[in-house]
Amino acid sequence: MEYGKFPSYRPRRMRDGELARKMIRETRLSADDFIYPLFVKPGEGRRDEIPSMPGVFQVSLDMLMPEVQELLDCGVHYVLLFGLPAAKDEVGSTAWDEHGVVQEACRIIRAQAPQMYVITDVCMCEYTSHGHCGKLDESGRVMNDETLELLANEAVSHARAGAQMVAPSDMMDGRVGYIRRALDQAGFSDVPIMSYSTKYASGFYGPFRDAADSAPAFGDRRAYQMDPANGTEGVREACYDIAEGADLVMVKPALPYLDVLYRVKQETHFPTVAYNVSGEYAMVKAAAQNGWIDERRVVLELLTSIKRAGADMIITYHAKDAARWLAEL
Ligand code: PBG
Repeated sequence: MEYGKFPSYRPRRMRDGELARKMIRETRLSADDFIYPLFVKPGEGRRDEIPSMPGVFQVSLDMLMPEVQELLDCGVHYVLLFGLPAAKDEVGSTAWDEHGVVQEACRIIRAQAPQMYVITDVCMCEYTSHGHCGKLDESGRVMNDETLELLANEAVSHARAGAQMVAPSDMMDGRVGYIRRALDQAGFSDVPIMSYSTKYASGFYGPFRDAADSAPAFGDRRAYQMDPANGTEGVREACYDIAEGADLVMVKPALPYLDVLYRVKQETHFPTVAYNVSGEYAMVKAAAQNGWIDERRVVLELLTSIKRAGADMIITYHAKDAARWLAEL
């Protein structure tokens, strides 16, 4: 169609006033779209703000419920739990400790907040002394197949503690299938897997590694996370994980990879989650604190863009603020 031939086509007519714009709005953001990452740690009375992530806190177990209640009050019903364990070792054995910090957090939330849906991050990097996402060989390389069993132990222990969904973020090959079988054998065939299928080796995870105390002690994660230059491989990674039994797939980070997010959603037709990561959050916060951008406007625009690109759900540290702002609109 040649629009020029229709002199009466005046898109501005539907931009005149909020009610007109709302009528033809294609993407609607809601608090139901958000998953909030929560960092839990041992100790008592701790609610420590993460310096590079203003407004985000590491909380001890006794401080968990006020945090959960605040989320529910804003209309956020999904949390993704990360643990800062009391102790770390070479193989990250506190990851599957029945009384580990994430396991206890699951029990607390499930018992006290039935309206909250609990997802757990499954990875070794918070639990290993070297900060890598799996078991190392003598040369310091992460061993793929030897790590699978550790991840499966962790996932099953989370499910036992009441996690309603597990989310492996380690990027070992074959881990979705391995974890699926382990969950099924342990009687958790109803627990879905949200796979961090398409996870890039990104510079945007820096603030998270402070928050979760999970920076690798040497080297980086490029031998297991994806090369930022690859888009088609990102789709392929999602397809492999679906074939292995993933219920939801993910693209992470979100903003530099909206093209990949669009393709994953279009090509898999699977529920697709975007992780708006710590560095993306930190950039917005820093600019807002300097008065350089309008935080509310920018955050809602970014989250709308992520949804428009294809995200069914967005994991974001902005969840509380965004949910409050949406309620005011
Ligand atoms: C664990 C994990 C990471 C993030 C989520 N799970 C860090 C990493 O891979 O180094 C990053 C989240 C964020 O930056 O907000 N593997």
